[in-house]
Amino acid sequence: MKTEIIKVDISKPNWDKQLEYAAQVLRDGGLVAFPTETVYGLGANALDQAAVEGIYRAKGRPSDNPLIVHIAETSTLKELTSSIPGAAAKLMEACWPGPLTLLMPKSDKIPAIVTAGLDTVGIRMPSNPIALELIRKSGIPVAAPSANSSGRPSPTLAKHVIEDLSGKVDVIIDGGHTKVGVESTVLDITVEPPMILRPGGVTFEKLTRLLGEVRFDPAISSEVKTSAPPRAPGMKYRHYAPRAMMLLIQGEPEPVADEIGRRAELYNHDGTNVGILVTDETAALYEPVLHAYCKFISLGSRRNPESLATNLFKCLRDFDENNVGVILAEAPETAGIGQAVMNRMLKAAGGNIIKV
Ligand code: TXA
Ligand code: MG
Repeated sequence: MKTEIIKVDISKPNWDKQLEYAAQVLRDGGLVAFPTETVYGLGANALDQAAVEGIYRAKGRPSDNPLIVHIAETSTLKELTSSIPGAAAKLMEACWPGPLTLLMPKSDKIPAIVTAGLDTVGIRMPSNPIALELIRKSGIPVAAPSANSSGRPSPTLAKHVIEDLSGKVDVIIDGGHTKVGVESTVLDITVEPPMILRPGGVTFEKLTRLLGEVRFDPAISSEVKTSAPPRAPGMKYRHYAPRAMMLLIQGEPEPVADEIGRRAELYNHDGTNVGILVTDETAALYEPVLHAYCKFISLGSRRNPESLATNLFKCLRDFDENNVGVILAEAPETAGIGQAVMNRMLKAAGGNIIKV
């Protein structure tokens, strides 16, 4: 399949005209990758079973992992759901358009393949203007997982989508880098109190302020180990994974730097290329000699936790580009958006974490 790449710059006049072709491709049952404010998504007509099958095929995605349906107007909700839970109105008012996916009882109009046979459907209204305008122009609800090959770090640049999906999708819209950098928060509002199934762009703190009580699926909490499978099927897979093995080190900055330095020497001694994921504030804690033989990448500034989320997936892919064999990473603080960053890093590391 030939993949058409369309660059869209929203600062240019008539930028929306460039989306007409992609909207037509979606209506015709094709696959279009597009930027959202979180990560790039791989979209297809959510009401067309054959089109949605194409998403699973292009990504190599397990068929038991449901997709999020993206909409541009709240009026679309009526045809997608069999009822709208009470908590929805307040959440949509405060967080849409934006990085919050709400699970609601699905209507019969949505093919079972979209929800992997579940009776709830995840719905979100993205805030990226290109995403919104594409959905509006297509006139259909758009099913879209992150636009990476299954298991790889999610794409935050069109370049990442091209790496994973070129030749497998009809169109890739290049809208520059995505802002939030981690995916939407998945919130189940069919239960009381609502439950976070995946931490993401809308923080636990914000949801608690809005709703009073919010629970967190214990199976995906970084602190509690349980045997129950996570309620969001996608959370059980190794995910976001760079090719390199990854290890997280958690603790105060100095002991973390000491531990990473010690391990870096051991790996280097074995002839492994070592990558070290630091922050702007901690890079100087490492011996100059380490800087000489390891690949250092800064995730961003600890003073701006949003920047850590924005850069995470790109940093993981950058290590791969540098043929790093092992990534030693400082674990982030877990307040606010840090909870989502920690969740993604833990998954990328296959749960390998050491506390010092
Ligand atoms: O920010 C995002 O949410 C991005 C952009 C493209 O919108 N999309 C995204 O989709 O991250 P995906 O497919 O990579 O992740 C969706 C997650 C998976 O963990 C999936 O299992 C869960 O949401 N999910 C979707 N529908 C669900 C449902 N009905 N019940 C439980 N979990 C669901
Ligand atoms: Mg994904």
